[in-house]
Amino acid sequence: MKQGFFSALYQSSASIDYLLGKKRKFMNLGISDNPSVEIKSTDSEDAHHISLYMKLLDLAPNIHENTKNISALEIGCGRGGGCYVMKNYYSISDITAVDLSSANIRLAKRFVPEAKFIVSDAVEFKTDKKFDLILNLESSHRYSSRLTFFKNVASMMKEDGSFVFGDMIRKNELQEVEKMMNESGLKIIKVETVNKSIVQSIEQHSKKQYPLATRFPGLFPRRLHSFFVTIHSRAYNRLKSGDVLYNLYLLRKN
Ligand SMILES: C[S@@+](CC[C@H](N)C(=O)[O-])C[C@H]1O[C@@H](n2cnc3c(N)ncnc32)[C@H](O)[C@@H]1O
Repeated sequence: MKQGFFSALYQSSASIDYLLGKKRKFMNLGISDNPSVEIKSTDSEDAHHISLYMKLLDLAPNIHENTKNISALEIGCGRGGGCYVMKNYYSISDITAVDLSSANIRLAKRFVPEAKFIVSDAVEFKTDKKFDLILNLESSHRYSSRLTFFKNVASMMKEDGSFVFGDMIRKNELQEVEKMMNESGLKIIKVETVNKSIVQSIEQHSKKQYPLATRFPGLFPRRLHSFFVTIHSRAYNRLKSGDVLYNLYLLRKN
């Protein structure tokens, strides 16, 4: 039920943006940290979203070297923002990307036409191709089974491949989630909790991004605040208090 409501919101907001010709290609909360690669002036509005992707991608060893030969898979690619960063800031050209929302994929194809896009549920998606790099950002908290998802990811990684994973995880579920990674044949190589910089990013951008919802919070149902993670949402408060952790991981095969 909860999954259906949020899936419908992803689908309808992307369809509206497609019809209106809107150019929004990122859906993550962004981060206030400085980017590791200089951001082009044409991307300055998206700097906080791009910086979050960079922070995640930079966990992968040697990511800035020899990227032309890397094969990358992004699961939960949204509107193609991550693919855009991989292509334009890391020169990765072999990109496959998956999302549940066909409307998001339709937008993503506009931004990165060279990538191979697939509409699929992350929990069901599997392919025989093995990847050097698998990416998943701010998407898995809506999956029906993180365990199955992690197992599928492990099956699609090259032996020396990297899985960079970032998401919100309830503090009281952290042990269980990390146990699932382990049970899936994945080993945690690095983990970083970035709540402070994510909370700063929400505070810096929420008003501009959601002017009505931040000025007149009472007019919008709680679930909409949650979906957009505005400064009036429970998700924002939980990230601020630390009840929910925003963790970035580098995982490799066991
Ligand atoms: C908050 S957005 C993040 C998108 C992108 N990673 C970004 O940072 O811009 C979450 C994405 O996960 C996708 N998603 C949610 N449930 C999914 C599932 N079960 N399988 C695949 N994608 C899913 C949504 O359609 C949405 O595009």
